[in-house]
Amino acid sequence: MTKVLSAVAWPYANGPRHIGHVAGFGVPSDVFSRYMRMAGHDVLMVSGSDEHGTPILIAADEAGLTPQQLADRNHRLIVEDLVGLGLSYDMYTRTTTRNHHAVVQEMFRGVHENGYFVEQTTYGAISPSTGRTLPDRYIEGTCPLCGTPGARGDQCDACGNQLDPHDLVDPVSRINGEKPEFVETRHFFLDLPALAEALGEWLDERDASGTWRPNVIKFSKNILSEIRPRAMTRDIDWGIAVPLEGWVDNPTKKLYVWFDAVIGYLSASIEWARRTGDPEAWRQWWNDPEALSYYFMGKDNITFHSQIWPAEMLAYNGQGSRGGSQHEYGVLNLPTEVVSSEFLTMEGRKFSSSKKVVIYVADLLSRYQADAFRYFVAAAGPENQDSDFSWSEFVQRTNSELVAGWGNLVSRTATLVAKNFGEIPSAGDLTDADRAVLEACRAAFDEVGDNIGRNRMRHAITAAMRTVAEVNKYVTDSEPWKIKDDPDRLATVLHVMTQCVQDLNTLLSPFLPFTANEVDRALGGAGDVQPLPRIEEADDLDGGPGYPVITGDYSTIRPWGSLPVVVGTPVSKPAPVFTKLDPALVDDELARLGL
Ligand code: MF3
Ligand code: ZN
Repeated sequence: MTKVLSAVAWPYANGPRHIGHVAGFGVPSDVFSRYMRMAGHDVLMVSGSDEHGTPILIAADEAGLTPQQLADRNHRLIVEDLVGLGLSYDMYTRTTTRNHHAVVQEMFRGVHENGYFVEQTTYGAISPSTGRTLPDRYIEGTCPLCGTPGARGDQCDACGNQLDPHDLVDPVSRINGEKPEFVETRHFFLDLPALAEALGEWLDERDASGTWRPNVIKFSKNILSEIRPRAMTRDIDWGIAVPLEGWVDNPTKKLYVWFDAVIGYLSASIEWARRTGDPEAWRQWWNDPEALSYYFMGKDNITFHSQIWPAEMLAYNGQGSRGGSQHEYGVLNLPTEVVSSEFLTMEGRKFSSSKKVVIYVADLLSRYQADAFRYFVAAAGPENQDSDFSWSEFVQRTNSELVAGWGNLVSRTATLVAKNFGEIPSAGDLTDADRAVLEACRAAFDEVGDNIGRNRMRHAITAAMRTVAEVNKYVTDSEPWKIKDDPDRLATVLHVMTQCVQDLNTLLSPFLPFTANEVDRALGGAGDVQPLPRIEEADDLDGGPGYPVITGDYSTIRPWGSLPVVVGTPVSKPAPVFTKLDPALVDDELARLGL
């Protein structure tokens, strides 16, 4: 039994999340985590809301709220969205907790004591008209590295490089178009060049494992050649205080949101352990070199997970070229794998909350089944290349694959069993066809499981659905509805069908946790194949204000593999598990989007 950390990107709490966000980090990480638990591993799945930084400040200004009020409101909405999608976090928390602040400050002190921060004077941008600090990402100009116009002050989306606003050619404020003024300011820079060799060794070793997606490892190795110190403090009044004398009380200098957010993986693990009553339990996932860690995100986050976060840990561990000693959290494990997805577009367009070209998770869930959306993401999501969500494809896949393919098999099976026997019948002599279809279902566990474990979700769900089609073909060929005077043969066919449906349900359950429980009930089971997450109103562990977290008990999850059906289990006529969608809804949804 291996310890597996599922580290899922922290959504910004600057607004509700749209389906593009959760397609990238949410569904893939949940499918993986559910499967790894079923396969017997000890999974710790953590994340939380990312509540510091300029995006929150700007949104709060616009809403006429304090940043904390805005974060409180959005954190709750995001928690509801993620639970609505069935995402099985052990701990989904937030970055404004006292625990998180303390863990981030301990990491800062460790990195500082080990000598991996350099203090430098730089140029900070201010708006000449308001006198206020202009955040990096609100400055725009031409990228000094690739020459593309419209690069943001923090990052160029065209070449993927991190930038400094002062380096932009012809910088302007995105807020009002004025030219920013640059003034001198002192900051702490993470000495990435002193960590580059250790980062390179780690990336080489990860590359040799051959498990990373090719574009992710290539990108990560590429950016190593451009490495330079990065500021880890900012001129901003919303964030975590710099825990050093002369800095800690300064209301306008805070830790950079990205220094703080990635540490959330560790602080959420510590919070989880503290809440279970075994405050040191997190170390099994972080200090044991045998433990595995998988990080899930969209591609705009790769730099932070394959460079900044590992560099923070190497520095804290004392493993860069300056050496150093160990601190309270010991030697922290570097990521086993950075699992990055590409982008999801919608109806051929980029999502844009400001232009209302957006589908919010809550809206989707108010009208459609979570599993229909999860299925779409697994089967057609942006796993290895950008992909498009369109309402017509959503309707088509739901109706032809889920309703007519899988749902119909479940319903035919339960209906025939209910009508003819009222309970799961026992099998008589098996024919070759019976044996072949049973074996196909059993064999699918290896192929589907292996692919989920390697984060090839499209491949995995395709293999599972191919097996659904094989079983449907067996049913069509066997024509159980025509077997009138051979009750033994009818019992055998229905027994085989029930066994296949149960196996397929287990196989599909990491993708379709809600309907897996319904299918199980349709076969007379308890409906407990996949445990679901719950919202808990938690007290802050250190005396701050309380907040909702997502947690759950996933220990009763069904093991991965074929489980024999229990002959004699009562089965009654089932209700449909999947809702068939009216194709007319496509026009309604497009009208909602103004398309
Ligand atoms: N909030 C960031 C984003 O949405 C993601 C942060 S992942 C984290 O892009 F781990 F750094 F928090
Ligand atoms: Zn560029």
